[in-house]
Amino acid sequence: MITVIENAENPGSIRRAGEILKRGGLVAFPTETVYGLGANALDAEAAARIYAAKGRPSDNPLIVHIARMEDLSAVARNISHKAVLLAERFWPGPLTMIFEKTARVPYGTTGGLDTVAVRMPKDKVALAVIEAGGGFIAAPSANTSGRPSPTTAEHVAQDMNGRIDMILDGGPAGIGLESTIVDMSGEIPTILRPGYISREMLRETVGQVEVDQALIREDSGIRPKAPGMKYRHYAPKAELKIVEGSPEAVVRAINRYIEEGEKTGQKIGVIAGEESAGLYKGGLVKTIGKRADELSIARHLYGVLREFDELRVDRIYSEAFETPQMGAAIMNRLVKAAGHQIIKV
Ligand code: TXA
Ligand code: MG
Repeated sequence: MITVIENAENPGSIRRAGEILKRGGLVAFPTETVYGLGANALDAEAAARIYAAKGRPSDNPLIVHIARMEDLSAVARNISHKAVLLAERFWPGPLTMIFEKTARVPYGTTGGLDTVAVRMPKDKVALAVIEAGGGFIAAPSANTSGRPSPTTAEHVAQDMNGRIDMILDGGPAGIGLESTIVDMSGEIPTILRPGYISREMLRETVGQVEVDQALIREDSGIRPKAPGMKYRHYAPKAELKIVEGSPEAVVRAINRYIEEGEKTGQKIGVIAGEESAGLYKGGLVKTIGKRADELSIARHLYGVLREFDELRVDRIYSEAFETPQMGAAIMNRLVKAAGHQIIKV
């Protein structure tokens, strides 16, 4: 298959994307979180193509993306007052909510579940593509299953060239981590995946908000309520460890690991905040962003992990990034990539 790569600003590109989606094809498009791999959510055969292109396990459900509030009731049932409040405050935006599904949503889209995940993204190109494609677009992150989510069209092309019909290039994603997922099918809203919208922000709108126990104690063996969260997700080619402690202690420890590694001829990678990147002696240091601007850290995390896969390093040490709003999301993804290897110093 030939994959057409188009700038989303090209006249007619959105219309062409819509036509591909309407006939059951696959189009990758930018959203404010990460690039999505879109297909018609109401067509089980189109959804099946997503699983094939990504190599995704078929029990891992897709998020249905909509562009208009009034379309929610076509795919979701028993929409609570709290869900309406959250939609009013955070849609369009990086929030996904889980509802009971209507009969219009095929099980091929929900991985066999009776619930459906729905999100209305904020990105203008995303909204236009959803509308042009018929209004209901299933879109997981546009990476090969097991790789970091793509935050640029180039990342999408690395994984999907030749496997999908079209990639719309709308520039780098602004947030860089996937949406916050909240289960609204029970009495108390429950976070299944942390994202840009924090627990605190949700509480301000609906009061009590729980967090899926499987997220809090990830190695407890509790089964996560979002099937996708049970997968290791992504492991860099080089072993990754997170070093946690006071800023000075972390720099001291990582400098020692660099020295020890380099003595035995190893190449050591470091993931650092801009504030401390200059304090490392040797090693291959990648600056991820500024702690003072946590969005810059979120935005570059997946890209830096992809870059380290290209470079031949033997080990990677990362600082921890417990930032105020997005820290839970950043650390959730980083800890998964590290296979839970955290060194406390
Ligand atoms: O920011 C995002 O949400 C991006 C962009 C493209 O919109 N999409 C995304 O999709 O991250 P994906 O497929 O990579 O992740 C969807 C997650 C998976 O962990 C999946 O298991 C969970 O949502 N999920 C989907 N439907 C669900 C359901 N009915 N119940 C529980 N979890 C669900
Ligand atoms: Mg994904």
